Amino acid sequence: MSGINYSEKIPNNVNLSEDRTLQRALEHWQPNYLQWWQDMGPDGSQNFDVYLRTAVSVDPQGWAQFGHVKMPDYRWGIFLNPGEQDRKIHFGDHIGEAAWQDVPGEHRANLRRIIVTQGDTEPASVEQQRHLGLTAPSQYDLRNLFQVNVEEGRHLWAMVYLLHKYFGKDGREEAEGLLERNSGNADNPRILQAFNEKTPDWLSFFMFTYFTDRDGKFQLCALAESAFDPLARTTKFMLTEEAHHMFVGESGVSRTIQRTVDVMNQLKTDDVAKLRAAGVIDLPTIQRYINFHFSVTIDLFGADQSSNAATFYSSGLKGRYEEGKRTDDHVLKGNSYKILAVEDGKLVEKEVPMLNALNEVLRDDYITDSKGGIERWNRVIAKAGIPFTLTAPHKAFHRNIGSLSGAKISPEGRVVSEAEWNAKVGEWLPTNEDRAYVASLMGRVVEPGKFANWIAPPVMGINRQPVDFDYVRFN
Ligand SMILES: [Fe+2]
Ligand SMILES: [Fe+2]
Repeated sequence: MSGINYSEKIPNNVNLSEDRTLQRALEHWQPNYLQWWQDMGPDGSQNFDVYLRTAVSVDPQGWAQFGHVKMPDYRWGIFLNPGEQDRKIHFGDHIGEAAWQDVPGEHRANLRRIIVTQGDTEPASVEQQRHLGLTAPSQYDLRNLFQVNVEEGRHLWAMVYLLHKYFGKDGREEAEGLLERNSGNADNPRILQAFNEKTPDWLSFFMFTYFTDRDGKFQLCALAESAFDPLARTTKFMLTEEAHHMFVGESGVSRTIQRTVDVMNQLKTDDVAKLRAAGVIDLPTIQRYINFHFSVTIDLFGADQSSNAATFYSSGLKGRYEEGKRTDDHVLKGNSYKILAVEDGKLVEKEVPMLNALNEVLRDDYITDSKGGIERWNRVIAKAGIPFTLTAPHKAFHRNIGSLSGAKISPEGRVVSEAEWNAKVGEWLPTNEDRAYVASLMGRVVEPGKFANWIAPPVMGINRQPVDFDYVRFN
């Protein structure tokens, strides 16, 4: 069951050849996907041989095989974690009943919406990142970008499989739509706003993979609890791929900081102008990038009070992060949760029914998790003996969804006037000047083992290869 069949046109571990209708539908979608990859995937990279990992089984140990492949030849396919015998629904109104192997009619519309919304983010991030290969700081980084891109493509396949297999004609239409919407397209944009923003430079890419791929982790974890068993099994395997994306982000920011503090110590200065003249990214700019990506990403969890969130939970479609490890009744009727609101010019906590606040619960779990990496970045700064601390901004800072939407709140969580906001926003969020400076550093470095001046080399290569390994052969 866990072995993957690579002898078929579409690699899979779901016995695809036994379901002719589904196989035909997916084989019909496959050329459209490849066309999308040509048109919207990594720019100018089609002929490169890239040292990529490919899934060979879904076992926790040793699922990956590494080798040089051309990305259009990457074996995208359909991989599900093995099913659990007699799996039971373990939260919501159906708690204790058998998990669903098919979509119950009454939950069809909601499940389709959940799957389409998740599926839409996968190709969106590939589109957002499509020009970054032209300014890679090293072969090692270029390879990591491409690995993330092919796996986001694989995640799209995962969602398209569910749409084709369980949602009939509607599902097939939705699968086409996933290739028709495009990030930032004025007429046909991606569903969620964060996926229509640009990822213009490598600092943004690392921030995106640290913060926004982590949103992916939390959404997938919540879906991995689902009563709809095929969705739970699909998302479980996606999570194993997601871990590498967050590693790329965390280590990328960490190496950027490492290089900056090294130069700060060499030049014995924290003067931003001097550091910029030396070609590294000053720590206040890194803090502003954190503020931006953190705030934009926590909006992705949705409104702090949401009747949809309550419905999704109670009907068993979407659980909480680590639902199985929690010790409450997993029904949550009568429980309450604290959310934030601005009242009389002050930030106040309001107690609301927990079922309606489940977006906020997931957001808070995300915030705890994402702060861990910021602490690890601070250790790099502390080890260099530099008195500077990076922090996550307050949850209410720069929000655009829910009750805090549009409120003017400082990164420390103080309600400020419009005038103060306008005066200080350049200290809090990346300015045009910051972005132009970071953009000016982006130049292509492709010689094996060489790195752009603004970033330190990694401690280790990929798959125990040396750092100066030829991760990408340009042909
Ligand atoms: Fe993904
Ligand atoms: Fe990802």
